Amino acid sequence: MCWSFDQWQVVLSHVGTFRALEVMYTYSPSSSGSFWERVWQSLGNAKALRNRLKLVKTLVRNALERVGEGVTLLSLGSGSGRALLEVLAEAKPSNVRRVVFVDLSRDALEAGKELAKQLGVDSAYQLDWYRNSVQDLTRFAHLSPTIIEMVGLLDYFPAKEAVCLLSNLYQILAPSGIFIVGNVRWNEEALFVERAVGWHLIYREPEEIFQLLREAGFPAEGIRIYYEPMQIHGVAYCVKGIGNCAPPDRV
Ligand SMILES: C[S@@+](CC[C@H](N)C(=O)[O-])C[C@H]1O[C@@H](n2cnc3c(N)ncnc32)[C@H](O)[C@@H]1O
Repeated sequence: MCWSFDQWQVVLSHVGTFRALEVMYTYSPSSSGSFWERVWQSLGNAKALRNRLKLVKTLVRNALERVGEGVTLLSLGSGSGRALLEVLAEAKPSNVRRVVFVDLSRDALEAGKELAKQLGVDSAYQLDWYRNSVQDLTRFAHLSPTIIEMVGLLDYFPAKEAVCLLSNLYQILAPSGIFIVGNVRWNEEALFVERAVGWHLIYREPEEIFQLLREAGFPAEGIRIYYEPMQIHGVAYCVKGIGNCAPPDRV
């Protein structure tokens, strides 16, 4: 049995960052990881994270099919931008004009640029990368993004700051724009994740996510929250202006 810590060590030393997430996103059961890596990757939380990636991609594809031409996508706390980049590579949407990735971490943005090259989408689309805090969105206000995606970030914002952030992005979202946002839910591994791994998250039930979104200005009938199969990660799909573009019943 191999007792090396390899990728598991990467998770431990990069808790809360895109690096830890990439270890989980790119894991394959056939890969020859250490004992501890295989234990970690078989936990519900690691599986749920991979499920969340799939769910986010499905919702982004759905949103792209519902909006018109000349779409600007904005990813906040983008990390490597994997969800959006994989959608571009797999669905090759023709209505996307520009994708803007915003993250505080230079490393995350560099990893995103590299991934865009690997997936062959860097020359097919206008991709822009900004090192910026989501707490100051003024430089992006003129974009009036058609779709904003923010996954893996709300989980770190206490309620007051969360409402402030959500209200600001509600203001800059296009009038008929769509917002896709994730938040983890309390689960039976949460204490392990918190105490053994040192990953501190703000867990929210769907009613709490809904309440934050309502306080930020999203209309109740425009909000729908979906859960991946492990019921750990919720992803809300929010339509700013309701019309013929209500959230999908099922995904
Ligand atoms: C857990 S990762 C999520 C990455 C990606 N969205 C995903 O779901 O795979 C959180 C990301 O948010 C970034 N981040 C944290 N605080 C931020 C802030 N105030 N403004 C912008 N980015 C931030 C981190 O650098 C990190 O890349």
